[in-house]
Amino acid sequence: MVSFLIAYTSWSGNTEEVAELIADKISREGIEVDTHRIGIGVLPDVNKYEAFCIGSFTWEKGSTPDEVKDFVAAIGFKPVPVYVFGTGDTQFGGDELFCKAAEKLARFYHSPFEPLKIEQSPRGTQEKLVTNWTKGVLDHWRHLQE
Ligand SMILES: Cc1cc2nc3c(=O)[nH]c(=O)nc-3n(C[C@H](O)[C@H](O)[C@H](O)COP(=O)(O)O)c2cc1C
Repeated sequence: MVSFLIAYTSWSGNTEEVAELIADKISREGIEVDTHRIGIGVLPDVNKYEAFCIGSFTWEKGSTPDEVKDFVAAIGFKPVPVYVFGTGDTQFGGDELFCKAAEKLARFYHSPFEPLKIEQSPRGTQEKLVTNWTKGVLDHWRHLQE
């Protein structure tokens, strides 16, 4: 059984960068991780995984991209635990709408952990946010295994 599945959607590459950083940090801990780009290839069997991370950018007026809604519907159940990350841009509606899709996904899946919100690209100063979030997720997940 592979421990982590990271499914993400990304149009211009920001959310993909976050997904890659998270995957790298998890695998450096010796934990197996698969990544899946939403909408490409075969739907993954989420049941095969011990933990599920889902990442999305936010689209117009704080909405969740259609491909993410379709993916969530295609999975058809709520795995446990689900950890959520997203990218956004405060230029599109300020704090109110910033990374709203990540917030909505976290609420929908009853995520036990605060969603990670990254403004545009995670490279540079925000990489620390990804590092800390991933560390927190792994600590949370390890506690579940005890
Ligand atoms: C038309 C449009 C609408 C957007 N609306 C929002 C929004 O409501 N909230 C937000 O946080 N970001 C919004 N964004 C910013 C994107 O979510 C952000 O650029 C994101 O990092 C893109 O992710 P990607 O590079 O993985 O495709 C919008 C971007 C575009 C082009």
